Amino acid sequence: MGETASGILIRQAGAEDTDSIYEIGTLCFSDAWHKDTVAHDMEGDHSEYFVAVLNGEIAGYGCFWFVVDEGQLVNIGVRPEYRRRGLAEAILKRGLEECKARNMKTIFLEVRVSNRSAQALYKKYNFRSLGARKGVYDLPKEDGYIMSREI
Ligand SMILES: CC(C)(COP(=O)(O)OP(=O)(O)OC[C@H]1O[C@@H](n2cnc3c(N)ncnc32)[C@H](O)[C@@H]1OP(=O)(O)O)[C@@H](O)C(=O)NCCC(=O)NCCS
Repeated sequence: MGETASGILIRQAGAEDTDSIYEIGTLCFSDAWHKDTVAHDMEGDHSEYFVAVLNGEIAGYGCFWFVVDEGQLVNIGVRPEYRRRGLAEAILKRGLEECKARNMKTIFLEVRVSNRSAQALYKKYNFRSLGARKGVYDLPKEDGYIMSREI
């Protein structure tokens, strides 16, 4: 996978990226996964992690799951100092390509109702809200929108 014009490189992550992915998770999520959870999840056939590299640094990551014909965007996060440069967009695009390659029909995700920036990203990529689930998030307790789009 080559670099984009903006110098962003998206590549599949491996076990050697676990520390960076875990660290970015802690910078992005109040309920971030433990390092062991990340490492264990990366090993599964159902999951694929992508990292965005900018200036030689792992600046963001995305975790996608693939079950039967449904993809799921599980997590996407970008280091605060690298935001608004198109990294999340590049990761999302790569995940959507992977969905296509694995013959997924639909992709789903869940997002906090207060997370307007992530919702703007998903709407830009034609995700539509299917409704809200009560209290699915902790720290703080919050509802989440389920969003999806066809592949
Ligand atoms: C949400 C997040 C992943 C976006 O990452 P990013 O690399 O800054 O996003 P991009 O630069 O690729 O932006 C792509 C689009 O997302 C939307 N967007 C991103 N940040 C936004 C913001 N702060 N306000 C409004 N829209 C925003 C815009 O539509 C943007 O397109 P545009 O630049 O043409 O307006 C990042 O803010 C983040 O890591 N947040 C914390 C973790 C998180 O909330 N993850 C999502 C959980 S569901």
